[in-house]
Amino acid sequence: MKFNTKTIHGGQKHDPAYGAVMPPIYQTSTYAQSTPGGHKGFEYSRTHNPTRQALENAFASIENGEYGLAFGSGLAAIDAVMKLLKPGDEVISTNDLYGGTYRLFTSIFKNFGIKFNFIGMQNASNIEDYITENTKIIWVETPTNPMMNIIDIKATAEIAKKHNVLLAVDNTFATPYLQQPLDLGADLVMHSATKYIGGHSDLVMGALIVKDKELADKLYFIQNASGAVCGPQDSFLALRGIKTLHVRMQRHCENGRAVAEYLQSHPKIEKVYWPGFESHPNHEIAKAQMKDFGGMISFVTKGNDYNEAIKIVENLKVFTLAESLGGVESLCGHPASMTHASIPKEEREKTGVVDSLIRLSVGIEDEEDLINDLKQAIG
Ligand SMILES: Cc1ncc(COP(=O)(O)O)c(C=O)c1O
Repeated sequence: MKFNTKTIHGGQKHDPAYGAVMPPIYQTSTYAQSTPGGHKGFEYSRTHNPTRQALENAFASIENGEYGLAFGSGLAAIDAVMKLLKPGDEVISTNDLYGGTYRLFTSIFKNFGIKFNFIGMQNASNIEDYITENTKIIWVETPTNPMMNIIDIKATAEIAKKHNVLLAVDNTFATPYLQQPLDLGADLVMHSATKYIGGHSDLVMGALIVKDKELADKLYFIQNASGAVCGPQDSFLALRGIKTLHVRMQRHCENGRAVAEYLQSHPKIEKVYWPGFESHPNHEIAKAQMKDFGGMISFVTKGNDYNEAIKIVENLKVFTLAESLGGVESLCGHPASMTHASIPKEEREKTGVVDSLIRLSVGIEDEEDLINDLKQAIG
């Protein structure tokens, strides 16, 4: 099955009870047993739920994995991965990453004796300098949030394999429409399904996808033991979202290109961060590992002026000023005070998250309306 077909049919079968084409929302916490242990594969909805299972099968299918797991949020999914570790273990992570992931690593798991190295991975060979015998996970975001850096997944996977380290890729920004990390050698893919997977800004959810049975079993154990699962209603919504992922992503990419090119040509804009530009330092890697360049764009205005950036985000009308990304509607954000406020100023400025940086999640509206909105807001 090819990707577009998979988004609609991958891992799905018609409901065995009445043939419903969409999996019903099994709004139940528990399941009748004829005798202790005599059930139909479902005992308790923290462990398994038929609607969630249909979604987990869809996750596995669209990422070319074998096993999918759904969680109550993207951070709950990352939390489950970190619970594979024990005190003394080390993680090497991209230094430019979602602020909430940074907060989870440094304010929670660090207290349990896990060591994190945040490094620039744009040159994959850097990673080897940080690998020790205690390194267990390499954590990669690509494109990174919000600086749109690109990490070479294949080259990183080769290093991870050589040192027997697990490579986990947060594929939230790219989605499996644009890149499939498991095919490039990663061991685990993570999503904030809140974003493009759900696609309509109406749910909060996380996903993990792996190929290896032993790793999947460990993660299923953590999912059930820690219990950060999503409910059947949200599972249904995410399944519905996945069915249009490919058509939405096509339009996100088209509009993303138009907006990036418009901003690039604007005399008041200093720099636009978007991997589709030939001038992007890792454009060639992006071209090789991604099908297109997506709808996430960051930019700074000339003079690096905080007040000017705030004025722009307040003036935008079609773009809504809000946290999050990946929905059909265009959003804008000010990372330094919103999504990345949990990263200390000096740390975030090292990676380019300055006070004048604006991040756009370009939606699927008419291109002309988006450009006109930016025109009136920037002036
Ligand atoms: C790249 C990335 N990873 C993880 C997360 C966390 O996901 P959630 O908000 O669903 O917990 C986000 C949220 O913005 C994100 O942008």
